[in-house]
This record gives sequence, C-alpha cells and structure tokens, in this order.
Amino acid sequence: MQTNLLPVTPESLSRAGELIRAGSLVAFPTETVYGLGANALDAAAVKRIFEAKGRPGDNPLIVHISALEQLPPLIACDPAPAARELMAACWPGPMTLIFPKSDAVPGEVTAGLNTVAIRYPAHPAARALIDAARRPIAAPSANRSGRPSPTAAEHVMEDMNGRIPLILDGGSCAVGLESTVIDVTGSVPRILRPGGITPERIEAICGAVEVDDAVLRPLREGERPRSPGMKYRHYAPAGALTIVQGDESAVTRTICRLYDDAIAQGKRPLILALEAHIPAYGDRRALSLGENAEAMARSMFARLRQADALGADVLFSEAIATGGVGLAVMNRLERAAGFCVIAVK
Ligand code: TXA
Ligand code: MG
Repeated sequence: MQTNLLPVTPESLSRAGELIRAGSLVAFPTETVYGLGANALDAAAVKRIFEAKGRPGDNPLIVHISALEQLPPLIACDPAPAARELMAACWPGPMTLIFPKSDAVPGEVTAGLNTVAIRYPAHPAARALIDAARRPIAAPSANRSGRPSPTAAEHVMEDMNGRIPLILDGGSCAVGLESTVIDVTGSVPRILRPGGITPERIEAICGAVEVDDAVLRPLREGERPRSPGMKYRHYAPAGALTIVQGDESAVTRTICRLYDDAIAQGKRPLILALEAHIPAYGDRRALSLGENAEAMARSMFARLRQADALGADVLFSEAIATGGVGLAVMNRLERAAGFCVIAVK
C-alpha cells in the first residue's frame, strides 16, 4: 500500500473523510500526538488499527468527537457533576474521560471493557477530520506499538509507511505528550495517565482528584491495572535508557561517569539533559530536552527517536520534578527506561 503524506487542506480533509467512511485508516495531527484514526462505530475498521500498530488486542482505544452533542449516544448515563465541570473547563483539549459505554460502541474499541474513553481534541485539523468523516473516530497514537509516540508527521511515516493510505501533516504537536486520561465513573475523578492537564488544574476545577498510584511505578506481579495501557512497555528507544535523579551536581557527575564507562566498554552512549545543563557535559554527546517541563514534554518523544537514528545503545537522562506537567514527563520517561532509575545525592 502506498502511504500519501498530505498537508491539511479542504481537499485532503475531504479525501480523509471518505477513507474513514470506507473503513480505512488515516493518521492525523492533534495537539497532543498524532493519532491513527478509524470509524469508531465500525468494528472491522477498528480491527485494522490494531493490525497496523501491532497493538495488543486488550488495550482499548480513545474515541474522538468534534462536538459535545456527539457524546450522549456513546455513553450509558449522564456525566456526573465532576465530569461536567472538567468538560466545561478542559474540552476541547488534551483530556480524555472514561465513561460507562453505550451499546453503540463496539467491543473492539474498548477491548471488551464496559467503559469507553472519550476525547474532544482542540486541534482544528483533528476536529475537521471528524466533521468530514461525520463519525466519531477511534484513534490511538500513530506509532507502531512500543515505539515513542509521534509528534510530527515524519515520525508517523517512519512507523506506518506502507501500512496506511494517508497521513495528514499538521506540523509539530503543541503539547507533545498524550492526553490526561481521567476515570470519571467513581465519586472522585482519578487520573489513570497524566498529561498536559495537570493534577493541580483538575483539583482546582473539581475540588478533588486522585492520581492512580501506578502512574510512577511498575505494575506488581499479577496486578490488573485500571488502564490496560499501563501494562505495556511504552515509548522505548532501541538503546537501554537509565534515568539519574537527585541533586543537580551529583546528577551531572554521575551521568558523566556512566557515559565515560560506556565509552571505555566500546558502547555508543548518549545523554538527554535540560538545556541549561548541556555545557556541564563538555564534549560528550548530549541532546537538549529544552528549558523546562513543558519543553521537555514537547521534545521528549522526538529525542528518543533521534537517539535511535544516532545509533545510541545506552542512554542517560536527567529527571525532573513531578509537579505540574513534570508528572506526565516522568511517567513517560520512566516507562521508556523500563523503570531503571538511579537516585544520587
Ligand atoms: O492524546 C491522546 O490521548 C492520543 C491522541 C491520538 O488522542 N491518543 C492516545 O491513545 O494516546 P493511546 O491508545 O495511545 O492511549 C490510550 C490510553 C491507553 O493507556 C488505554 O489503556 C487507555 O487510554 N484507555 C482507553 N480506554 C480505556 C478505558 N475504557 N478504561 C481505561 N483506560 C482506557
Ligand atoms: Mg500510545
């Protein structure tokens, strides 16, 4: 199959809408990461997403809508007050809510769960695609399963060339990390996956929020996660990534030592560091993650892909504090590292 990469225009959107209605897949930009979309109400089309990604069948998809009126047919009961407050404050935007599902949503979308994840994205191209398709669109991130999520159309091409007919190119994603996933089926909203909408913001909106304790740790043997996606090793570069956490000067000192040891062993190491710390690594090969947590969110997945392109076989990354968007950044970085974190003083 030939994969076309087209800029977002009325013509490409109308072609994309036709493809979705015909049961095909289209990759499209959102403000978080690129999505790989199919008609959410067509079980056969949804199955193609799992095939194209190589995604385990027990990991459910997010259904994307382009107007609030599209929500009621997809869910089994009216949103609770906290959900309504979150919707009013954060939609359209980088937030996904988990509701009890209606019968209209095929089990293929929800991997057999009786809940469904819904997102109303802010990106104009994402909304225009849903409008053009005239159907809700089921879409995971448009990477091959296990690879870093795509934050630019070229990343989607790297992973999906030959597997899908069309990629809409909308440039780089503004947030750079996937949406905040919040379970609103209980009495207090619970964050299952942190993202651009922070716990601090959610608490300010609804007065209370819980953060699932699996957000910053590996699952225990036999544990069943509330969000199936938490089970899988995600976002992984080809090289082995170690995170070094602690006092700033101890971190740079430790990373320099680990890097020099790797060189002595004939390896090809690479450092990922905050912009301000890059000079501390001297001549060692280091990539900047930007100047703060927001910049790190935007650049992280692209840097992990770049590390692969550079042939790095061992990577050492600085950690950042887990306040605000830092929680989402560390959640992704720790998964990319398979939770290999060294604490130093
Ligand atoms: O920003 C995003 O959310 C992007 C863009 C394309 O919208 N999408 C995305 O989808 O990140 P994906 O499939 O890569 O991640 C969806 C996450 C997974 O961790 C999945 O387990 C969880 O949402 N999820 C989906 N449905 C769920 C449900 N009913 N209950 C609990 N978790 C669910
Ligand atoms: Mg994903």
